[in-house]
Amino acid sequence: MKEKCRPPYFRPLWRCMGRHLLLLGWTLLLATGNDGAEITCPEECSCRTTYDREEGSILRVSCSRGDMHSIPIDFFDKNARIINIAAPFDRPNFLTIGPIFTQPIPFANLRELHIVNSNIPSIGQYSFWGLQNLRLVNLTYNNLTSINADNFRGLINLTELHLDHNSIEQMPSETFRHLTALKTLILSNNQIEALVPRLFRMLAKLSYLDLSDNPLTELNPEVFKDIQHLRVLKCRRCLLRRVNTQIYHLVPHLEELDLGENQFKYLTPDEFISLKKLKKLKLDGNQLSVVVDNMFGRNRELRVLTLARNRLALLAPAALTNLTTLVHLDISHNKIDRFHLQTFAPVVDSLKTINFSGNNLPLNEIAIVLQILPDIHGVGLANLSLPEIPPNFFVYNEHLVALDISWNKLTKFPYKLLTKTKFLQRLDISHNKLQTLSEQDLQRLEAIAQINLSKNSWHCDQCSAGTMLVYMTTTVLNGTIRHLRCYSPMRLRGASFSDMTFDRLDPCPSTYEAQMSVIAGLMLLCIAVLAAVAGALCCTRRRAAHYYTNEEKRREHEHEHPEELLGRTELGSVATIHAPYQLVSKGS
Ligand SMILES: *[C@@H]1O[C@H](CO)[C@@H](O)[C@H](O)[C@H]1NC(C)=O
Ligand SMILES: *[C@@H]1O[C@H](CO)[C@@H](O)[C@H](O)[C@H]1NC(C)=O
Ligand SMILES: *[C@@H]1O[C@H](CO)[C@@H](O)[C@H](O)[C@H]1NC(C)=O
Ligand SMILES: *[C@@H]1O[C@H](CO)[C@@H](O)[C@H](O)[C@H]1NC(C)=O
Ligand SMILES: *[C@@H]1O[C@H](CO)[C@@H](O)[C@H](O)[C@H]1NC(C)=O
Ligand SMILES: *[C@@H]1O[C@H](CO)[C@@H](O)[C@H](O)[C@H]1NC(C)=O
Ligand SMILES: *[C@@H]1O[C@H](CO)[C@@H](O)[C@H](O)[C@H]1NC(C)=O
Ligand SMILES: *[C@@H]1O[C@H](CO)[C@@H](O)[C@H](O)[C@H]1NC(C)=O
Repeated sequence: MKEKCRPPYFRPLWRCMGRHLLLLGWTLLLATGNDGAEITCPEECSCRTTYDREEGSILRVSCSRGDMHSIPIDFFDKNARIINIAAPFDRPNFLTIGPIFTQPIPFANLRELHIVNSNIPSIGQYSFWGLQNLRLVNLTYNNLTSINADNFRGLINLTELHLDHNSIEQMPSETFRHLTALKTLILSNNQIEALVPRLFRMLAKLSYLDLSDNPLTELNPEVFKDIQHLRVLKCRRCLLRRVNTQIYHLVPHLEELDLGENQFKYLTPDEFISLKKLKKLKLDGNQLSVVVDNMFGRNRELRVLTLARNRLALLAPAALTNLTTLVHLDISHNKIDRFHLQTFAPVVDSLKTINFSGNNLPLNEIAIVLQILPDIHGVGLANLSLPEIPPNFFVYNEHLVALDISWNKLTKFPYKLLTKTKFLQRLDISHNKLQTLSEQDLQRLEAIAQINLSKNSWHCDQCSAGTMLVYMTTTVLNGTIRHLRCYSPMRLRGASFSDMTFDRLDPCPSTYEAQMSVIAGLMLLCIAVLAAVAGALCCTRRRAAHYYTNEEKRREHEHEHPEELLGRTELGSVATIHAPYQLVSKGS
């Protein structure tokens, strides 16, 4: 939050008008760092001067109480560098702007003008006339429905224009023709249905264009002829089904392309062939069902690829060809149930994070991929219905720093697994079924900087929660544990650990009861095991036969064995828990 300056005071109009005579003296006062004692500041605003080594003193005027019905322009100090008129969401302003900045003494220093959440219905001609040094105009959250070239006359040095969260429908050709220095144009969250030809004429320097959240359905290639130096293009939630690839020919310097949450069902094999400089590509939230071979073969500089929340069942064996600098890959929330191991060969040396969350992947498919990614730092394994994770799962990933295993079915804290990930700093294990943490679990957690344990089935009796309470009051885990809530017993469900004391907890079940329940439990277990063995015997036979046929076909097709690729003869205990599967694949 911005700190408020000394209580703003109201200066009579006559002092303001006479003020220009004193301008020199006042500027000196400001420059000598007398913290704005002689600044005019409207009553409803706050004004403060900061000092910047390069820029000198910077006077910020901020009016953000809301419910303003006019801009007290006469009381703004003409030295203002930044004017920020905003309002809380429940107390919007109702403002209009005409040529209010055209004053006998100009706002010669004004660099940034923000008028936000103020229900401005239109801009009007020449509104910013005379603000030659303005660099940034921020008119987000207003009620603009149309804009045209005259609105922006005189803004010869403007580099950033933010018009998002309005209701703009109309933008004629050459709307921005006076903004020849513009680099950033944000038009997201409007009602723009089409981009008319020559819309961006004279915007030769534009490098960042955000069109997200507009009902565009298609992008007119014509308009991109005028903005060939574009570096970043965003059109998330634009209702796009496809993009005319002509556009990509016109913007070959593009480094970031965000087409997330549109309606792409497929991409042509040469879709991105012109984008040789592309570093970040977001295609999440579409309806893609396959990524074909060599899809990104020409995007050799790609570092971030997001394919989350599509309908991918498969990444083709050569889907990642040439992506030798890929660092982040997100394939979460698709329908992937298996991998071709060679898919990942190109990224083996570069990949740092991979997100497998929310697919139909069995753990052994993931284990096989993780084995060839020894440098991986972040892994997403959320929403995979995992009841447990074998202790050796990350045995080849000793650099693991971030792990998301939230939204699974873990009933026990994976202590052994985590003793082997020495460098782990971020762990999300929320939304599981953990009931308690033992002393050793808590000691392991103490060494992890960022932890999320919420939404588990914490059992609040003295045996289960007692130690956790001790750690809450005495260790760095204070903040983490304090926010947890009891799940059982019923009497304490929803109670926060921060309100808990040892005395409020139920006592431990007595030793006799405990012994009896253990004995009863063991007997049940024996019966269950017997039944399970009997059942499993016939089942495994059938399943093994089934796996055999499928797996053999698949591995034959791929002509590879993970073991061979790794130069290892066994996959370690990770693989051995899936005995039927692995035996068959080794034998094929
Ligand atoms: C626009 O103004 C609002 C309110 O002051 C602010 O929260 C937002 O960050 C501003 N946007 C830019 C790009 O400065
Ligand atoms: C501005 O737009 C909002 C939402 O579209 C609407 O509720 C409000 O009445 C409009 N305000 C004016 C002054 O037109
Ligand atoms: C603003 O633009 C004019 C004309 O291009 C230029 O002469 C002037 O130096 C610019 N001002 C700043 C502060 O860059
Ligand atoms: C991979 O990159 C090389 C060198 O740029 C290029 O010759 C080759 O065609 C690319 N592969 C694909 C499949 O595009
Ligand atoms: C997947 O995990 C990465 C880090 O591991 C994270 O940045 C990303 O947000 C996750 N994606 C989703 C859709 O949860
Ligand atoms: C897991 O799935 C739930 C329900 O679909 C979703 O709300 C949640 O964001 C997902 N979490 C992660 C980390 O993927
Ligand atoms: C932990 O997860 C819960 C539930 O998903 C979320 O509300 C909370 O913000 C998370 N806390 C941290 C510190 O990530
Ligand atoms: C734990 O956190 C609470 C609230 O943040 C704080 O009041 C308390 O002093 C902290 N206790 C310890 C031991 O750090």
